[in-house]
Amino acid sequence: MSSSSSPTIYQATCSAPVNIAVIKYWGKRDTSLILPTNDSLSVTLDQDHLRSVTTARADASFPAGKDRLWLNGEEETIQDGGRLRRCFDEMKKLRKAKEDKDASLPKLSEWSVHVCSENNFPTAAGLASSASGFAALIASLAALYELQPEVSSSELSRIARQGSGSACRSLFGGYVAWQGGSEASGSDSLAVEVAPQSHWPDLQALICVVSDAKKGTPSTAGMQRTVATSPLLQHRIQHVVPGRMKAISDAIRQRDFDAFAEITMADSNNFHACCLDTAPPIFYMNDVSRAIVQLVEELNRASEAEGKGKMAAYTYDAGSNAVLYAPKANVAQILAVVRHYFPNADFDDTVSLSWPSAPSPAPRDA
Ligand code: DP6
Repeated sequence: MSSSSSPTIYQATCSAPVNIAVIKYWGKRDTSLILPTNDSLSVTLDQDHLRSVTTARADASFPAGKDRLWLNGEEETIQDGGRLRRCFDEMKKLRKAKEDKDASLPKLSEWSVHVCSENNFPTAAGLASSASGFAALIASLAALYELQPEVSSSELSRIARQGSGSACRSLFGGYVAWQGGSEASGSDSLAVEVAPQSHWPDLQALICVVSDAKKGTPSTAGMQRTVATSPLLQHRIQHVVPGRMKAISDAIRQRDFDAFAEITMADSNNFHACCLDTAPPIFYMNDVSRAIVQLVEELNRASEAEGKGKMAAYTYDAGSNAVLYAPKANVAQILAVVRHYFPNADFDDTVSLSWPSAPSPAPRDA
């Protein structure tokens, strides 16, 4: 691989898509390890549309003990004890374990790493940028350190989780559950595949960009305010989410869109009700978001009155943008109706659901 005239370059580039939860994660039982108060479940979108692309490079000539990271061209501070530091440290530990087993390997774990990451969509606007960002960081470091297949995607998800909770789910394509776990160490808090994208390719996602402004209350701060003040959240954790996790997993396995849609919309509404139940209340949805809810409810009512199933499901994260899930056959009609009622709105196009490109290390030789 290396030659005396051209030094080996240790670099890897990977991309990771966003995932949109249908059972929402909202609340931590441990804020430093990022352990959630409830299980969650999401659908990973096609990375042709919303994705983070990240290149990681290790080089013996980089000043020792100084990893660096640039996000969309601007350098981020890697704080001691912070999320980024933890991700770098955990990934270096895995590389070190590999080097300890094989003395012929270069000691990449001892070298500083430079990372460059780009999102092809607005950052921190409620479009799950931290999920794809941390997933791409972990995937690129895993490729740089050649950790897979010995280290599984679920094991990597445990580390991505410590960057941003929802990021653990972007390590997989298709339908993914984050099992919150019960261990204080977080050893059992990781993502698992419920079904691959190929299981239900008919399901499409439509992103309605209501606003690409940065959200007023970041998720991290907002969810802990909800944990501290909302009685409704305790009800959600104990009595709402466990049944829904099972029911939506069954709906996905059976490709039952009506059940999937009903649970997805109910969980989005329950999550935003918990935000409203927070003191002081948190408002993520705006008038346009609520109008889209009404429109989808009306479309579903009309379709069901004709004896057909539901047309679509809406869900909203910590922002005003709507994500609609729908069977392929309904997408054209939904788009036409949405365009009719919101002629000035800014719409992205249909996003099919897949995980087309696996982590892809760049050529290593100079
Ligand atoms: C509403 O994963 O961004 O999108 O773990 O503090 O980084 P941190 O929070 P984050 O929260 C995502 C919240 C959500 C719901 C979800 O994706 O499940």
